[in-house]
Order: sequence, then structure tokens, then C-alpha cells
Amino acid sequence: MAKQQFQTVRGMYDLLPERRYIFDYVTSTFARAAEDAGYGRIETPVLEDEGVFLRSIGEGTDVVDKEIYALTDRGDKRLALRPEGTAGIARAYIEHGMGSRPQPVRLYYLEEMFRYDRPQEGRYRQHQQIGLEVIGEANPSQDAQVIMLIQRVYKRLRLPNVTLQINSIGDATCRPKYRKALVEYLEAHKKQLAEVDRERLAKNPLRVLDSKEPSTQVILAEVPQTLNYLCDDCQQHFAGVLEYLDDLGINYELNPMLVRGLDYYTRTVFEFYGEREGAQASLGGGGRYDGLFEQLGGTPTPAVGFAGGVERVVLELEAAGVLPPEPKPDRVYVASLGEPARLAAFRLIEQLLDGNVPATGAVDRDGIGAQLARADKLGVPYAVIIGQKEVKEGTVLLRDMATGAQETLKEEAVVAELRRRFGIT
Ligand code: HAM
Repeated sequence: MAKQQFQTVRGMYDLLPERRYIFDYVTSTFARAAEDAGYGRIETPVLEDEGVFLRSIGEGTDVVDKEIYALTDRGDKRLALRPEGTAGIARAYIEHGMGSRPQPVRLYYLEEMFRYDRPQEGRYRQHQQIGLEVIGEANPSQDAQVIMLIQRVYKRLRLPNVTLQINSIGDATCRPKYRKALVEYLEAHKKQLAEVDRERLAKNPLRVLDSKEPSTQVILAEVPQTLNYLCDDCQQHFAGVLEYLDDLGINYELNPMLVRGLDYYTRTVFEFYGEREGAQASLGGGGRYDGLFEQLGGTPTPAVGFAGGVERVVLELEAAGVLPPEPKPDRVYVASLGEPARLAAFRLIEQLLDGNVPATGAVDRDGIGAQLARADKLGVPYAVIIGQKEVKEGTVLLRDMATGAQETLKEEAVVAELRRRFGIT
């Protein structure tokens, strides 16, 4: 029987070391900015009760209807892999009584999310998010602060030309009125709507607003806009957010069609875009979700948050050629020739590592030339060479890889000498 060949599951990818460091750079830059601003890192389980997502993200959304990875465990419990972070964090906030902590509670996360999306560049079935949530603060200044923090992260990453779009979708007071006007308008033009949007109209009419279908787009030119239906409180809140943004000198674009794909949002919604074109251009987005805690059985708690795709930021950085320098620790390569020397090399590598000197080497049968060529490829600053003669004399050769200069050192002095040269204290 032929051996079975396995591959990564469709829509998922292996992240190899040569790209991993860019992901680390993105997540650590974000984590640093969040920690500086008083956010604490939270980790919730990958699996949640499926109801956590159905109740918060909402049935009728693509994420819940088409993309959720649900499963029944051996105890017949319905579970789901998290498609996003906010719902699980709201569940955790309620479960741990975080409402009794000083408010607001500021949390950030670096997590994998799972969505049975149609895979393509920038869209995967397992993706990584950087995200944050501020829970327990209703003031519009908080919405602006979250936006400001994300802007700072994108700036530190040197992402070119990030744009911000913002809108308000109202709340439980004013959205029903808007929804009614929207449905009436869309029903009147139903024939011209694209097929998929007719389905959306029945299930989740707000989603028709960000349709990319050309025939729907024509109808949307005259569609009623959320901003004209906001109640006084929502209007005031939105005016407050924009004022803070103006005050902070943040550029934004009002996009009355921006509704986002998850049902828990109230009032402010926003999205960041990069330079890459198309549906996968959204680098991240978020907004307010003042109604979510009640929906999950908690007390009413205002909150605002954001999440961004790490892969999309990396693609953007790669396309713009603004990559961080590849981290290359000052490492020593130990080369050896002959059996007793190989043993000495093996021992020396362990001694170097014990002494906090990054070291690697060949315990193979190649000649010294081939080993030094490998050391050169690795870009190490020093190689240590041990041959028959050195073993006999209890010495080693220390080679400066940049100049090719070699000197003889006592075997027992090597670790201390390299620690000195690398400035390891
Ligand atoms: P979201 O817009 O669904 O929001 O996802 C956030 C970001 O994750 C997107 O802007 C995109 O960059 C990235 N993303 C989403 N799906 C994929 C995918 N299949 N492949 C690659 N990247 C993807 C949320 O998840 C909300 N929880 C954000 C939030 C936090 N709102 C309030 N707090």
C-alpha cells in the first residue's frame, strides 16, 4: 500500500521560523503598547459552549451560520472553536465577577480564531488576532482611546497608509426604527438586489449595507443611513467620539455603510484598512457592544473593543517591504575534525550553552571547510575549530568569521572569552 501523504488542513498554514519572527514582532509590538496603556493579558479557552457565540455574534450572521466550527463532545455537549475573542471574554468577565473590580477592566489578547471561511490570501480558517476590550466604561472618550491605541500600534509597526472608517449604528432604542426604514426601502427594491442580498434581507438586513454586489450597490446609493436615525443619546455619543478624534488629530472617514459582521455592536463601529485591495483589506475593526453582557446573562455593562488580523498586518508589511531585522543572536559555531575532536566539540557546545553563550555545531562527518561554509551561511560572528592537534594540546582555534583571523585559546578559557566578547555578564 502506498504511504499516505498528509498536508495541512485547507485554509490553515504552517508558520516556519523564517516568517515566525515577523508575527512575533507584530504581536509583541501590540502587547507592549497595550501593557503600557494599562491592559492585562487574558487567555480564554479555544473551546466554548456553542451558545456563547450563538447568543452574542448572532444567528443570521455569516460567522455563526456558515463559519462556526461546532462539535459535539463525548458527553454530548455542543461546543465551538472560537471564531472571535469578544464573546468568550464577556463570558469570562461575568463568570469571574470582574464587575466588582475597579472599572473599566482593560484586557488584551493574542489568540487563534477559527472560521470556516473561503480560504484565500489574507483569509484563513485558522487566523491570529491581536485584540483588546475595555469593559465598564460608557464615555465616548474610551472609544477614541481604543482607536488611538491601535493607530499607535500600526504606526510603530511602520505600516504605511492605514485608513480609519467609522460609523454609528445606534442602539436598542433607535435601531429598530432604522431597521424598519431599511427593510421597507430594500423590500421596495427587492427585485434589483443580488440573490445573496435578498437572503440577507430576510435574515440580517443590516448586512446588505456592506454588500459588494454590483446590482445591490446601485440600490444602496439612496438607502436610508443609520446616522439619520440615531436617538439623542446615540447622536451625542457619536459626536463625542468624533470630537475626541478631532482633538487627537486622528484622520477618519465617515462611512454610513459600515455595519460590521457581528450582531453585538451598538453605537460606534470602526474599521482600519491597509493598502491591499479587496475584501481582505480590513486590518482590524471593532466598536462598542453595550448590550452584550445582558445577552449573556450578566448585568448591563458598557464596553468597547477591537481585534485585528495578524496575518493581514504581516502581508501588508511584506508588501511594503518594511520588515523588522531578522533576529540573529550572536551565536558560535563549533566545528570539529576526527572522532576525539567531535567529542570535545560536543562537550564544548554544552559548556557554552550552560554559560549562556548561544552555540551550535556539527557532530557530523563533514570536513572543516564544509562546516565553516555552513557557519558562514548562518552568519555567526565566531567559529571554534577543534582538530586532532587541538585535542592533543587541550586548545581550540577561535576564528573571527568576518576577518578570517584565527587564534589559539586554552580549551578551558573559551567560554569565558566568548562571554566577554559577546558582553554577557
Ligand atoms: P472581526 O472584524 O470579525 O472582529 O475580526 C477582526 C479582524 O480579524 C478582521 O478585521 C481581520 O483582520 C481578521 N480576520 C477575520 N477573519 C479572518 C480570517 N478568516 N482570516 C484572516 N484574518 C481574519 C472581531 O472578531 C471582533 N471580536 C472585534 C472586536 C473586539 N469588537 C469588539 N471587540
